[in-house]
Amino acid sequence: MATLNVELGKRSYPIVVGNGLLRDEAFLDPYLAGEEAVVVTNESVAPLYLDRVAASLKDHRLICQVLPDGEQFKNFETLQSIFDTLLENRCSRSATLIALGGGVIGDVVGFAAACYQRGVAFIQLPTTLLAQVDSAVGGKTAVNHPCGKNMIGAFHQPTCVVSDTETLRTLDQRQLSTGIAEVIKYGLIRDAGFFAWLEENIERLLRFEDDALEFVILESCRHKAQVVANDEKEAGERALLNLGHTFGHAIEAATGYCNWLHGEAVAVGMMMAATMSQKMGWLDPEEPERIRELLVRANLPVKVPDGMSAPDFLKHMALDKKVSHGRIRLVLLKRIGAAILVSDYPDGMLDEVLAEYTG
Ligand SMILES: NC(=O)c1ccc[n+]([C@@H]2O[C@H](COP(=O)([O-])OP(=O)(O)OC[C@H]3O[C@@H](n4cnc5c(N)ncnc54)[C@H](O)[C@@H]3O)[C@@H](O)[C@H]2O)c1
Repeated sequence: MATLNVELGKRSYPIVVGNGLLRDEAFLDPYLAGEEAVVVTNESVAPLYLDRVAASLKDHRLICQVLPDGEQFKNFETLQSIFDTLLENRCSRSATLIALGGGVIGDVVGFAAACYQRGVAFIQLPTTLLAQVDSAVGGKTAVNHPCGKNMIGAFHQPTCVVSDTETLRTLDQRQLSTGIAEVIKYGLIRDAGFFAWLEENIERLLRFEDDALEFVILESCRHKAQVVANDEKEAGERALLNLGHTFGHAIEAATGYCNWLHGEAVAVGMMMAATMSQKMGWLDPEEPERIRELLVRANLPVKVPDGMSAPDFLKHMALDKKVSHGRIRLVLLKRIGAAILVSDYPDGMLDEVLAEYTG
């Protein structure tokens, strides 16, 4: 077991990573202040892990809510159903909401916690690799609106994140790979040595080897914690975590958020960003190839969805939150291990990249 901290003054919190943490009946004791604990999970995760979490809360007033599974339920209706549960059970401001599941559960429960009685405590128990390396850390919470993904949300930091690597064993390969996409992202934007480690060890991750998983979760969280500590509300540096996301969100939106997983769309987006970075003269020609090779070895896509056109990309990219003064802001790579946020790229360059990928 290892612990690292997100340093945010009074709102600092630990991230605990280890194998079998949820089996320890005392694992939540240090983090629960009040009597009421409200565990929110979904119908896929509940049969796997809810009993373990409930066992650790037997001395509390425990309320459980099991939501339907899927990104399509990350919406106002689900949020309302959580508020209904809290109010019907007369939960006070000292209640703690506990999100048990992947990024969808973490985002919607976190947002409910941010709003309920103007903010109550919440704990993240992420059970997907994507959530353990990314979404559970940093305090971004949201639901989707029919006009855009994650458009309604709040910054609300958890009181702790407990990542049990044992829970990853029940993920399928595709869900594992979508999390690996975000892991590769940290290497690309901040750490060439970590990227090289991934090139050496990617197959160990794909085989669910515990020590390899624990290492990448800790490294990823270390990077994310540093970025969040420097720029909690995304005024600058935190935007670099969006490498591949502006292209990726366009893919997710164009495909109706159903066929493509988030990390898969981000993988293609990172390739597109790498191509553009090479055109800017920053990446050497062999660097996009190294990135492509690693993504392919991680079973991630590197081509855009069939039939998706350049205008489709532009339409959805313009709706993304990352637009500045009418120009689409992009995170590009200065080299493997260093990212930069740009909106002053030469006219026509984005069109060239889109044409290359969609043509
Ligand atoms: N808040 C942030 O900073 C942030 C960052 C990245 C992504 N996100 C959000 O995260 C969401 C994607 O998260 P995700 O990839 O975890 O998807 P997800 O929450 O939909 O989980 C993927 C699938 O795995 C299942 N599952 C979860 N844990 C499991 C386990 N241990 N064993 C078996 N099945 C399990 C889920 O029920 C679901 O079917 C998106 O909504 C995205 O917008 C948020």
